[in-house]
Amino acid sequence: MQPYFIAPSILSADFARLGEEVDAVLAAGADVIHFDVMDNHYVPNLTFGPQVCQSLRDYGITADIDVHLMVKPVDSLIQMFAEAGASMISFHPEASEHVDRSIQLIQSHGCKAGLVLNPATPLTYLDYTLDKLDYVLVMSVNPGFGGQQFIPSTLDKLKQVRQRIEASGRDIRLEVDGGIKVDNIRAAAEAGADMFVAGSAIFNQTDYAQVISQMRTELNK
Ligand code: DX5
Ligand code: ZN
Repeated sequence: MQPYFIAPSILSADFARLGEEVDAVLAAGADVIHFDVMDNHYVPNLTFGPQVCQSLRDYGITADIDVHLMVKPVDSLIQMFAEAGASMISFHPEASEHVDRSIQLIQSHGCKAGLVLNPATPLTYLDYTLDKLDYVLVMSVNPGFGGQQFIPSTLDKLKQVRQRIEASGRDIRLEVDGGIKVDNIRAAAEAGADMFVAGSAIFNQTDYAQVISQMRTELNK
């Protein structure tokens, strides 16, 4: 059975009780914690910095932390998040002056490196990077906010990226991010995704275990 990874985005969590919220989603069956870092420069919103990642590590969170950098420039925050305990770090290629060097920087700190493709970002960014990446993050919304609608054309893009990954022969995870719900997660998996970010679909529910279990049931149909 294909291993699927569910990654709740803390963007939709209660920041006043963030440690407890992360404990709760992990206890409810989540695999990875998705950190949406926004700088109000690359995207029109502002969230949190590496100190929050460090605080969660100091609090005792040991699960993988999947940092999604929606920032420009990228490299200084790669370093800070790696030192603050990130496990995986992805960035938008349009936000880096030297994409290959940014990928190397992530991996030099022992983190997994991912490239983020916005809805309008072409797959050509993968031409000279796929052989170096640990994962690809395909955005199914335009970055900046939680609670948006899933963009249906993402399914075809996921299929194309999955084909590129298979052709590479490398073990590269395919993450989908934005508007993922119980009623569309299976379609995303059938299109080739194996890692699923869900913010509002999980944190807007009172019973995290129930919604994560529903997602797993859909994935394993
Ligand atoms: C958007 C972020 C997404 C978003 C997902 O810029 O990258 O991770 O928080 O939130 P939902 O699942 O509510 O669309
Ligand atoms: Zn994200």
